Amino acid sequence: MILVTGATGTIGSHVARQLTERGVPFRAMSRRERPDGVPGLDGAPGPDGAQPDWIRADFDDPASLATALTDIETVFLVTAPPTPTAAHDLALLTAARAAGSVRRIVKLSAIGTGEQFDGATVGAWHHAAEQAIEASGLAWTMLRPPSFASNVLFYRALIHAGEPIPNLVGDARQAIVDPRDVAAVAVAALTGDAHDGQRYTVTGPELLTFADQAAVLERVLERVLQRPVKVADAPGPDAVPAAIVTEIGWARAGGAAYVTDHVRQVLGRPAGTFEQWVRDHRESFAATP
Ligand SMILES: NC(=O)c1ccc[n+]([C@@H]2O[C@H](COP(=O)([O-])OP(=O)(O)OC[C@H]3O[C@@H](n4cnc5c(N)ncnc54)[C@H](OP(=O)(O)O)[C@@H]3O)[C@@H](O)[C@H]2O)c1
Repeated sequence: MILVTGATGTIGSHVARQLTERGVPFRAMSRRERPDGVPGLDGAPGPDGAQPDWIRADFDDPASLATALTDIETVFLVTAPPTPTAAHDLALLTAARAAGSVRRIVKLSAIGTGEQFDGATVGAWHHAAEQAIEASGLAWTMLRPPSFASNVLFYRALIHAGEPIPNLVGDARQAIVDPRDVAAVAVAALTGDAHDGQRYTVTGPELLTFADQAAVLERVLERVLQRPVKVADAPGPDAVPAAIVTEIGWARAGGAAYVTDHVRQVLGRPAGTFEQWVRDHRESFAATP
């Protein structure tokens, strides 16, 4: 049995949907009650009749993690702590060892993890978590995506109001990735042993600046928005949340400006473009937030 943590989040919800479509049994975990009407999460059976299980658990509550991990062999690990720390990963790892049944962890990490920049470690908390998992004796796969295409949804209200959206990374280019591709690579790693011991930097197919992304939004959403999508350079380091200063500085300096072939290697098809993601999510931008 597979445990999908972060099941209500961006990547976990796609993993849940894709496992359901493939008829793979799994247990979805989050702190919330099971959501209604969300494919893959609402308990409706997939095409093969497999009915996903649901568990409410919190990384900060060891007893709940122990229950969540009962009879679990493979974990999809998503952590998004309010402050950057490996504590949630380490709590999961401790509970996984205690459960005795867990054999493999597929961890959602981030591009650049472990690199040095400006006297600090990029993705330091992911790095600490990756190292602990790699030393645990369990099988593992690390997924290290760059910025998700879906991040532009954070700016829906600004886009609708015709207000500029804040650019934290200047002219730096990044291989913006479709979250569905990150999830598909995760599903491949969760459902077999072919990807054990691999670190995949799961990128999109092309390098885009933030202004390039805005131009794509403006063009694809022209009829929906009927106004330009403006970009404003964020005014200096003060605009960057303290938790991600190193990561944003590294990306702004061009650290993330590369494309990999890992999606094609794992899935046998090219990675999706940012433009395709926007086309597929026109509806999300249609309504006033
Ligand atoms: N966004 C990006 O561009 C990007 C790029 C590269 C890497 N990443 C990495 O991706 C990860 C975030 O993934 P995501 O965007 O899919 O997540 P997300 O959409 O932010 O959702 C977070 C998930 O974690 C769950 N969660 C939060 N706190 C929890 C707790 N204490 N106990 C149990 N569950 C908890 C939430 O569930 P409930 O609220 O329902 O409990 C939710 O399902 C981070 O590690 C980040 O570094 C992000």
